[in-house]
Amino acid sequence: MVTELIVLKTLNDSFEDIIRAGELLRGGDIAAIPTETVYGLAASALSESAVKKIFEAKGRPQDNPLIVHISDFSELEKIVCEVPENAKKLAMKFWPGPLTMIFKKKDCIPDIVTAGLPSVAVRLPSNKFARAVIHAAGVPLAAPSANTSGKPSPTMASHVLDDLDGKIPMILDGGPCSVGLESTVIDLTSDTPVLLRPGGVTLAEIRETIGACELNPKILEPVEEDEKVASPGMKYKHYAPSAPVVILDGDIENAKKYIKSNINGKKVAILCFDEEIKFFDELNVTVISYGSAESPETLARGLFSALRKLDTLGVDIIYAREPRMSDGIELAVLNRLSRAAAFSRISI
Ligand code: TXA
Ligand code: MG
Repeated sequence: MVTELIVLKTLNDSFEDIIRAGELLRGGDIAAIPTETVYGLAASALSESAVKKIFEAKGRPQDNPLIVHISDFSELEKIVCEVPENAKKLAMKFWPGPLTMIFKKKDCIPDIVTAGLPSVAVRLPSNKFARAVIHAAGVPLAAPSANTSGKPSPTMASHVLDDLDGKIPMILDGGPCSVGLESTVIDLTSDTPVLLRPGGVTLAEIRETIGACELNPKILEPVEEDEKVASPGMKYKHYAPSAPVVILDGDIENAKKYIKSNINGKKVAILCFDEEIKFFDELNVTVISYGSAESPETLARGLFSALRKLDTLGVDIIYAREPRMSDGIELAVLNRLSRAAAFSRISI
């Protein structure tokens, strides 16, 4: 299959391409689309055969459910049984945006989308191209991140091409994603809301809006084999470069000492903050930064690109510096980095 890459400019200039993408999706095919979080691999959420193509192209395990994307709040009631008060409050504040909410699903959503669960995850993205494509398709779009399963999510169209060239018919290039990490996922199907995946909408913002919200413990801990999890995505190895990633937990001086005494002829790379690049100079190893320590938003935007870059270097081990724990976007960065490291961390 030939993959067509279409560069989008303004909504006006790209009108015809967006209509064509909408027709392709309505007709039961798949396409990669930009969103503000990461690129998504979209298909009609109402078509079992279309959604099957997503799982095939990504090599995604069948038991990992997909997020359904809508372009207007009024589409929500067509796919979910009820919209709890908390969901209305969160939607008022954070939709359109990087927030996914879990509801009880209606029968029009086929089992393949939800991996047989009675619930469905729904998001109303803020990216103007994403919304225009959903609108043009005229159906809600199921879309996981548009990467090969297990790879870091794509934050640029070139990442999608690297993973899925020849496997999908179309990629819409809307430029780099502004958030850079996948959406926040919150479960609203039980009495107390539970955060299942931290993202661009922070825990602090959620608690400010609806009060109590629990944090699923698996956000910062590994899942044991055969353990039952609230969100199937937690089980899977994710975001991982091929070399092992080890998080060094401690100050920068100790990090340098630790790395120096552990090089032992190995090809080492360091993943750190912009401000720290110079500091590691004398070690003569590859140093890649993923953003500024002073601006967690830049870390969120830069992490997946940096992990992809590290993957091409053929190093033996990657030592990573992490942001401080908080109830802001740092929590999402920590979660993704911890998973890339398979939760391997050394206190130094
Ligand atoms: O930002 C995003 O959310 C991106 C863009 C494309 O919208 N999408 C995305 O999708 O990250 P994906 O498939 O890579 O991650 C969806 C996560 C998975 O961890 C999945 O297990 C969880 O959401 N999920 C989906 N439906 C669920 C449900 N009904 N109950 C619990 N977890 C669910
Ligand atoms: Mg994903």
